[in-house]
Amino acid sequence: MTNKNKHDAAWESAWKDLKARVGECQKCDLCRTRTNTVFGQGNIDSPLVFVGEGPGAEEDESGLAFVGRAGQLLTKILSSGDIDRESAFIANVVKCRPPENRTPLPEEMMACGDWLEAQLLLLRPKIVVCLGNVALKWILKTTEGITALRGRWFDWRGIQVFAMFHPSFLLRNDSRSKGSPKDLTWHDVQDLKKRLVSIGD
Ligand code: URA
Ligand code: URA
Repeated sequence: MTNKNKHDAAWESAWKDLKARVGECQKCDLCRTRTNTVFGQGNIDSPLVFVGEGPGAEEDESGLAFVGRAGQLLTKILSSGDIDRESAFIANVVKCRPPENRTPLPEEMMACGDWLEAQLLLLRPKIVVCLGNVALKWILKTTEGITALRGRWFDWRGIQVFAMFHPSFLLRNDSRSKGSPKDLTWHDVQDLKKRLVSIGD
């Protein structure tokens, strides 16, 4: 099976199959409390994939990633860097909502991470942006946190990885003063845009 042409029958059937398997996944207990799985959505041809943590209440209700308050802020952050969120693909480390929006447990991330890995291997983006600690730690297997690593570029299996603060963290840290998380994120999104331009997108 080739990853090169996402519109060939083999790719399409692998993608559809993955989505169906996520939709009926019972690999961890989060399946008991979910309303919907949240596979992720967006442009499968994009060189850019965003990875968040996991669905919140609105995402669990709608089955779509980043549609609640954090998602609205993400849209604004991206447009401030002249990036249209619809042009990218957006997914999460875990596909089911953790109760009370708690951080996913290590065993939940382990179980669900296989789905994200399969998604990334099929999508083959040029850039993966980790939004917050959970995504960063899942991708890079690092113990260092987002505050130390945001704004920096890494490699994951030949894919360029960029780390940014999670929009929910920015909702809780609203200051725009110099050096604040919002201020740093504003710079990060400009840097991301530059990289997208440099890879020809
Ligand atoms: N937070 C996330 O990490 N992902 C979503 O889809 C929504 C909020
Ligand atoms: N913790 C997170 O998970 N993400 C952030 O962006 C900041 C703190």
